[in-house]
Amino acid sequence: MRVPDIKIAVDGYSSTGKSSFAKLLAKKFDFLYLDSGAMYRGVTYFAQQNGYISPDNVISDSLKDALKELDLHFEVGSQLYMGAECIESQIRSMTVSSQVSPIATVPYVRAWVDERLHAFSEGGRVVMDGRDIGTTVFPDAEIKIFMTASAEVRAKRRYDEMVAKGQNPDLQEVLENLQQRDYIDSHRETSPLKKADDAYTLDNSDMTMQEELAWVQGLIQGKFGIL
Ligand code: DC
Repeated sequence: MRVPDIKIAVDGYSSTGKSSFAKLLAKKFDFLYLDSGAMYRGVTYFAQQNGYISPDNVISDSLKDALKELDLHFEVGSQLYMGAECIESQIRSMTVSSQVSPIATVPYVRAWVDERLHAFSEGGRVVMDGRDIGTTVFPDAEIKIFMTASAEVRAKRRYDEMVAKGQNPDLQEVLENLQQRDYIDSHRETSPLKKADDAYTLDNSDMTMQEELAWVQGLIQGKFGIL
């Protein structure tokens, strides 16, 4: 199926499988995949490493100037790099997960990330996942998908992911972190997580990836009249 040069926005709650789904679409349609959450995680890691955020989430004003020197970018297979260092595994740790939502509430951080996301996506044919892609980053995206699944299903998925990476998480802690992030993400003032009016909801609590793919292919075929 030849998909036109469009932008696909995939938003939704934490651990709904947005990134696996978005990566699958990118591979299937030969699109560029961009993980906007990785950028917020990268800023959080940078802030933690350099003392711009305290253990009780007080964010120093000097982070704003420090961002001018920060180089976050993706290399081969959507791995996040800070300068020459691949920080993909660091940004997936609980240490980063536990402070990423407060960092993502800061308006100048969001502006900094949005500017980079736009630069990375020049030329279209991009699938980007996050929380505010269909509402703020790409309000003109031709296809918008809002993903959701029950909190328990999502916590178990994140837990399995961490175990597979050799980490030793606590399921209850993972669930609480996820619920806390859902709350902060949907209640913050700047670009809260919310379904765009023209987004299609995908509840994948009981769906396989192949079913999700068939669903979106049907959506694209219907919208663009492709057979
Ligand atoms: O998708 P993720 O769990 O890797 O995202 C990490 C955090 O980044 C999430 O708690 C909220 C924030 N985020 C955001 O505010 N806006 C986005 N477009 C993507 C992520």
